[in-house]
Amino acid sequence: MAHVRVAVLVSGTGSILDAMLAEEVPVAVVLADRPCGAVEIASAAGVPVEIIDRRAFGGFGEGFDRAGFTGRVTEVLGAHDVNLVAMAGFGTVLARALFDAFPGRVLNTHPALLPAFPGWHAVEEALAAGVTVTGCTVHLATLETDAGPVLAQEEVPVLAGDTVETLHERIKQVERRLYPATVKTMIDALEGAVPGSVDAPSRVDTEACR
Ligand code: GRF
Repeated sequence: MAHVRVAVLVSGTGSILDAMLAEEVPVAVVLADRPCGAVEIASAAGVPVEIIDRRAFGGFGEGFDRAGFTGRVTEVLGAHDVNLVAMAGFGTVLARALFDAFPGRVLNTHPALLPAFPGWHAVEEALAAGVTVTGCTVHLATLETDAGPVLAQEEVPVLAGDTVETLHERIKQVERRLYPATVKTMIDALEGAVPGSVDAPSRVDTEACR
């Protein structure tokens, strides 16, 4: 029976990756778009790491070659026989080729109750808006950022005196529980649906990504 092989995509401290490893999510590879703390966590756990540095694709400005970068990411995930992709604090918006290669198989966790506060500054914006409750959302990632179907959500209260840092850390405490649990539920569903039917994409069309 083929098993689900998960890739975790990271850019930051990797505390959610750490929680996934602690919960024994079958992480086949950790892919980073820059050197970051998450890479150290993966290495310490003996998980294969791939760093596809954005700086080799034009960096963070207008010259960023998003299609080329996505093509390389898609190619590398294919080489690791990945069949489920979990973004965990990944700082690059990926192009269509990734979603075509892994249809319905790309997950993300977002530190707000989507559709409220999509985008990079969800915690800041929730705090600035004065909401009393925010939270986190695990969802299927689609081409449109932070707009895919919601798989799980949990509320987190905003407390008097919260800063972006304190609120984000409290949200992340929930994400560290909710995201691994949701990923494991998805894995169970994929492996149980039709035994032996979970395969890596038979062919990753990297030419289409360029
Ligand atoms: C999480 O809050 C996630 O929702 C956001 O980035 C954070 C990742 O944290 N996109 P870490 O790097 O896993 O500690």
